Amino acid sequence: MTWLITGGAGYIGAHIVHQSISSGRDVIVIDDLSTGIAAKLPSDIPLVVANLNDAKAVEQVFNDYQISGVLHTAARKQVGESVERPLYYWEENVGGFTNLLASMQQHNVKNLVFSSSAAVYGQPELDLNASISESELCNPINPYGATKLAGEWMAAALAKSDGFKVVSLRYFNVAGAAANELGDTFALNLIPIVMQAISRGEQPKIFGADYPTPDGTCIRDYLHVQDLAEAHVAAMDLVDNGSAGFQAINLGTGNGTSVKEVIEIISEITGQVITPELAPRRAGDPPALVANPGLARDVLNWSSRFELTQMVQSAWAAWSSKASSPWQ
Ligand code: UFG
Repeated sequence: MTWLITGGAGYIGAHIVHQSISSGRDVIVIDDLSTGIAAKLPSDIPLVVANLNDAKAVEQVFNDYQISGVLHTAARKQVGESVERPLYYWEENVGGFTNLLASMQQHNVKNLVFSSSAAVYGQPELDLNASISESELCNPINPYGATKLAGEWMAAALAKSDGFKVVSLRYFNVAGAAANELGDTFALNLIPIVMQAISRGEQPKIFGADYPTPDGTCIRDYLHVQDLAEAHVAAMDLVDNGSAGFQAINLGTGNGTSVKEVIEIISEITGQVITPELAPRRAGDPPALVANPGLARDVLNWSSRFELTQMVQSAWAAWSSKASSPWQ
């Protein structure tokens, strides 16, 4: 019962690998190491270094190993970049996944856990205080979200045509670190970007303070990466024991925090005075995204344990320790 974890050397993927191993699972990893770091993996875990767009390399993995399921995290994940480079996102996120699904089909591997995103929802027509359920209409407002929704559609189609068993996990905003050496080494999201700015003696930017939210900045639902990793192990169990079909499940806490509030918490925890610069809105940003986590609780028997302060504390500890250096 070996699961293939794509993107397993990345920030999120490596947390999932470690959690899977502590839960007694056998895993192997494929990662192109573009943002992944091999040293994050235990040395006895097989690592195939390849991009999923290399169909031959993907096929070779299925020839070489007895794979019973695939957990697919490998993807590009920056909303802003996806607006600037949409074709790159379609090639990487949809092209690569197409190769992966073709090899799964070829080798009769039908168990799949897919890393999807809250970005599939776009900006739901909800009261901004309302949380988002999985039944909400998916209407992405940036290419990143569109590629994740396309991935869900491909997987759902294979559930119908070939009896795939699919759980698609719609992540909200992932942060923190389970151990210093697993910290996020790329400053691509708000919390690491602010930490990078602090350590360089610079001020972070707030992208837009004129949103229709209480303090004018965007609201997100921040989830500890350790909580996220535990949800993945529950999802693999669900797929292993389940029957054919497709199910999308939100992974979030149900609590929303604004960009300004996040920066205040970072300031308190790091003891640094932060005077953020107000910058124009970033293209593709919805004003508010907060999960309704009820389905995850019911179906995965999972709910989040960690608070935002613990995410920031652990992210800052990882950052300060430089254990995951070189920081980008
Ligand atoms: N932000 C700033 N300044 C920065 C960076 C970000 O103000 O320097 C703001 C953004 O505009 C946004 C919020 O902080 O309002 C969070 O931005 P992130 O880039 O950290 O995260 P996103 O919400 O854009 O996207 C993240 C992941 C996606 C995932 C999504 C789900 O990167 O993969 O959360 O909500 F789909």
